[in-house]
Amino acid sequence: PSPLAALVAAGLTLAVPLQTVPAAQASTGSGDFVPGSAGLGDPYFPHAGNGGYDVGHYTIRLRFTPKTRHLSATTTITATAKKNLSRFDLDFSGPKIGKVLVNGERASYARKGQELVVTPRHGLPSGKTFTVEVSYAGRPKAIKDKALGVTGWINTKDGAVVLAEPDGARSWFPVNDNPRDKATYTFEVTVPEGLTVLANGEPGNSGVAGPRDGYRTSKWEMRRPMASYLAMVAIGKFKVTQGVVDGMPNITAYDPSLAKEFKRLHGTTAKAIRWESKIFGDYPFSSTGGIADRLGVYYALETQGRPVYDTGMSDEPTIVHELAHQWFGDSVGLRSWKDIWLNEGFASYAEWLYQEQHGGPSAEKTFAEHYKHKAGSAFWKLKTGDPGRTGMFDWNAIYLRGAMTVHALRKKIGDETFFTLLRTWTKENRHSTVTTKDLIALAERLSGQNLDDLFDAWLYKAAKPKL
Ligand code: ARG
Ligand code: ZN
Repeated sequence: PSPLAALVAAGLTLAVPLQTVPAAQASTGSGDFVPGSAGLGDPYFPHAGNGGYDVGHYTIRLRFTPKTRHLSATTTITATAKKNLSRFDLDFSGPKIGKVLVNGERASYARKGQELVVTPRHGLPSGKTFTVEVSYAGRPKAIKDKALGVTGWINTKDGAVVLAEPDGARSWFPVNDNPRDKATYTFEVTVPEGLTVLANGEPGNSGVAGPRDGYRTSKWEMRRPMASYLAMVAIGKFKVTQGVVDGMPNITAYDPSLAKEFKRLHGTTAKAIRWESKIFGDYPFSSTGGIADRLGVYYALETQGRPVYDTGMSDEPTIVHELAHQWFGDSVGLRSWKDIWLNEGFASYAEWLYQEQHGGPSAEKTFAEHYKHKAGSAFWKLKTGDPGRTGMFDWNAIYLRGAMTVHALRKKIGDETFFTLLRTWTKENRHSTVTTKDLIALAERLSGQNLDDLFDAWLYKAAKPKL
């Protein structure tokens, strides 16, 4: 039944005749219909994310022609209203919209900055599921930020790859772009015959359709909750290797011109996943792998289930790092971007641990090297636990001092409790989101110690902590 029919069936009276009830004025007796908020209050990205609803699933259907860089797309969102909604926002910075449907009916919409404001014909009752279908076409553009670099839809020589941390998802699909609103995803991507499509998760049941008119459609499914910044498709000429690790598919791919650099990606991925599953606990997804391409962004990204590596990012520690994020960052996600150290500190510490257990320097030695930085020097300048939007990927404050914070904790609570903590943290918060407070609470619970001073010194002071 339509939302209004449901209200009438529930015996509620309406102030004005049914046919003419504007959504914004419909009254249910349990509160008026009001607009969802335009953000979720993230201090670093106040516009990202939207209030009033929760997304359950995205189906992203794309048709892309690398030669012209033209994309035509339809994204269908299934969401649940968290209050009686007269209208709601999505985040979208992609190409021109053709139409927006809500529950199959035309809805009006307006674009303001990154906000796509959708006003449905009928109010959306709290607790009810609704669908939004947005069709759009044109040339998608990457998002360029002075401090954060290039993110979003990135065109390559023979295709495109998406890398969207922290807020690039809006460049290619309409989205509730906040890491706390995880959802499952279906990707259906149509590209010229001869090109390969990869995405998060596993190839869909129906696999590949076509060719038709020289195009072929591939389907991929991410069946576990995923933050929008981790959603990825990769299109182009790829050398694909399929294998099995720990009983699950390992699907890796590289641009053939990168064979020399990335021929070991497949094997190193399998080795890292085996080791990490022992240290961190059960792997949280149903497949693994990796994708390497010429992107010109100079970073790798832990895209869920299958990280993406730019050229120059093929070393073993980087692969260990991106795969450690599958536990720390992807499965155990962030509620707020200021806690980015929870992602990068643990993923970087995974590199130190890996070295320690594979004939390299001990984590203590690596820690001591970095601890040599003089008090008052630039190394200690930002707060690891609140580096500011532009400091999110600061090498010293987030990657190195993030890992040092983890090591300081290990020293304080001892190895046995520390390794229990790693496994308990990933188990209790699997497919969820967390804050730094949650980590402190768990560490205190497991160790029986008060750790406030330790975390305060390492995370919330722009100064060298005492040992
Ligand atoms: N999380 C990525 C890593 O594993 C880095 C992402 C950098 N993103 C950016 N916009 N610069 O280190
Ligand atoms: Zn990282």
